[in-house]
Amino acid sequence: MSEGALAGLRVVVSAGPTYEDIDPVRFIGNRSSGKMGFAIAAAAAKRGADTVLVAGPVTLASPAGVDRRDVRSAAQMHAAVLAALPADVYIGAAAVADFTPATVAGGKIKKRPGGGGLVLDLVPTADILAEVASHPLRPRLVVGFAAETGDLEANALDKLRRKRLDMIAANRVGVAGGGFESDDNTLHVYDAAGVRVLGPAPKTRLADDLLDLVAARLS
Ligand code: CTP
Repeated sequence: MSEGALAGLRVVVSAGPTYEDIDPVRFIGNRSSGKMGFAIAAAAAKRGADTVLVAGPVTLASPAGVDRRDVRSAAQMHAAVLAALPADVYIGAAAVADFTPATVAGGKIKKRPGGGGLVLDLVPTADILAEVASHPLRPRLVVGFAAETGDLEANALDKLRRKRLDMIAANRVGVAGGGFESDDNTLHVYDAAGVRVLGPAPKTRLADDLLDLVAARLS
């Protein structure tokens, strides 16, 4: 790792889950720990980048030298990421909710005696990553993540093209020894040059290796 490799550059990283409120006491969330995104932000700051970390609801400590902006919902993350532009690099490591309740109930939703189930009306959220990649202030490098349970390569390459990304880091979720809640993971990083496999390794090591690829692309 070269210490000043990203000096003078602005890097925006999103991390963690989003919580989509259903009523004042309930939400829809996901199992993202935020560890990968926080490690990436730490690695960017270590390389001298002016680093903004847009963090969903997690209990992790802020990495040194990072401008952290806490958000809760996908809509708040969307606003915070766009407000952080212009930037040289955007790395979307957050597990953003794809759907959010159409309305948030003002009071706690009650069971009705003898009543049936509850049907939630969900609407799609904005795709932050795709929007950043097509934005007039598009960063020079837009990097996405793909958490997949099925065909890693086909899904990652489809996302790379569909969302107009420069690079995508794909990992398997829902299997032992990696994924959302673990400290270790394996990343398959796809770009126009092909694929590189990083790990299995601790997420801090993967973040360093990923930032080396990012710095190489920018130099
Ligand atoms: N992402 C985003 N905004 C969303 C949803 C996802 O910015 N509303 C970003 C994530 O931060 C990640 C990438 O998109 O970098 C991949 O997310 P994923 O949920 O795997 O992709 P989807 O577009 O939801 O594709 P699919 O539903 O086919 O898995």
